[in-house]
Amino acid sequence: MANSAAIGIFDSGIGGLSVARAVRELLPNESLMYVADSGHAPYGEKTDDYIYQRMDHITRHLTAAGVKAVVVACNTATTAAIARLRAQYPLPIIGVEPGVKPAVLASKSGVVGVLATPRTLLTPAFATLTQRYAGQAKVILQPCPQLVPLIEALAFNSDNIRALLKSYIQPLLAQGADTLVLGCTHYNFVADSIADIAGPDVSIIRTEMAVARELQRRLAEADLINTDLITPDLMNKGTSKATDIFYTSGNTDIFSTQLQCLWGSADTFSLLQHPIAD
Ligand code: DGL
Repeated sequence: MANSAAIGIFDSGIGGLSVARAVRELLPNESLMYVADSGHAPYGEKTDDYIYQRMDHITRHLTAAGVKAVVVACNTATTAAIARLRAQYPLPIIGVEPGVKPAVLASKSGVVGVLATPRTLLTPAFATLTQRYAGQAKVILQPCPQLVPLIEALAFNSDNIRALLKSYIQPLLAQGADTLVLGCTHYNFVADSIADIAGPDVSIIRTEMAVARELQRRLAEADLINTDLITPDLMNKGTSKATDIFYTSGNTDIFSTQLQCLWGSADTFSLLQHPIAD
């Protein structure tokens, strides 16, 4: 496996771009190959089997394209089926799970709220995570079914989204939650509104940088870090010479607009149509 090979990252849509941003920040000279499975979103309302079929399909194409590691940048997919995916493919596969452990550690009131898709909160993997790390804390689950489509529409600061966020967050605060877990990668894009609604005394737990660090650790362990493109100048500027390629199973015009809002101007990425995302 070449160290210059890309890192594959996928999600049901744009949520995983928050993880890709963290990877880009921590590993500036790795190339990224990102798949937004927008034609099959939202995962949060699909069955585990359906989600696994999509994970398998995307991972098969990513590995055929030569990636050296895969990041499942989606809590729903990770909790639904990452164990099955790992059993199928020999390369490092890094997932993202709701940050229950750091939330319990951060909470002073002993009450933690978890915002996530309905699917994530129903999975046995999430139940195991909560059993393992809740300890004496009370962990309140808050499914947020309508949030992902509004975030996909880039309506981050709309009245609609604020009203919806309030309806999800206020009952958690009323029950004494002082820590909120963003258990869906899409929610990172409305983290500021969540923090604003929750107020200054509430901690917000995000996991994308922890995922990037875990990826870095796994690449280092397998001696797969790319050192070819590093120059001191590029490192100092925090810029990247790496080429990032994006695919979508949805509408490429919409994804292009989303990328220009969340990634960079059109000359900073390649957006391709490929059977990877069928
Ligand atoms: N971004 C995904 C997650 O982290 C879910 C979005 C969806 O429902 O498709 O769970």
